[in-house]
Amino acid sequence: MSKPRNKLLKPAPDRPLVAPSILSADFGRVAEECRAVLEAGADLLHLDVMDGHFVPNLTMGPDLCAAVRRHCPDAFLDVHLMVTNPALYVEAFAKSGADLLTFHIEAALHDNHGFDPNDLANTIHDQGMNAGLAINPPTKLEKILPYLKPFDLILVMSVNPGYSGQSFIADVLDKTRAINSQLRPDQRLEMDGGIKPDNAPSCIEAGCDILAAASAIFKTDNYAEAISHLRG
Ligand code: DX5
Ligand code: ZN
Repeated sequence: MSKPRNKLLKPAPDRPLVAPSILSADFGRVAEECRAVLEAGADLLHLDVMDGHFVPNLTMGPDLCAAVRRHCPDAFLDVHLMVTNPALYVEAFAKSGADLLTFHIEAALHDNHGFDPNDLANTIHDQGMNAGLAINPPTKLEKILPYLKPFDLILVMSVNPGYSGQSFIADVLDKTRAINSQLRPDQRLEMDGGIKPDNAPSCIEAGCDILAAASAIFKTDNYAEAISHLRG
């Protein structure tokens, strides 16, 4: 039987969901920061995992995810893997309590160490998690379209991944609309990067039902207000 929090993604939510990315949280007080955004109305927690290879930065791994799970047992954990070899970490994140594991199409379609994204979606499902597929700003729509079917969620990056606090790239909105037109009602669309109250409405208009945001929430002193401003 699926865990109750897994129902978050299905059916479609009747309002945009907000996923604070804890990359901009105070790392000295991660559990407290997670609880604070959940109490402030966050719908899920977004964990950015970087391997220093797919992107230049290094951030968090399964142990951090397990700690968040321990301190926030009912939270929906949205884990965004910006790593070259996501298959290596599927089991570890399943054990660490991730609800959604998203990896990048650019990792799958790599010339030298690529893999079939649909096979990895199946592996993620077999481990009891939802599966997500992410696409970077420069990657063409045609690259992701053949692979949408088995995924619970598609994540469109609106910054080049690696860091929080970058500016929103509005060019990705056309690609977002095109992806949205190909999704089934049971598939979610998430936008991630540079989302602020002034550009959140354009993401929602393009079909996104989940907005991931780090600095727009954690760099303010009123999380509840920041979250409600993103919802519009
Ligand atoms: C970027 C990460 C994003 C990032 C968002 O590589 O995937 O989730 O934390 O940060 P903001 O909202 O500050 O752009
Ligand atoms: Zn992210």
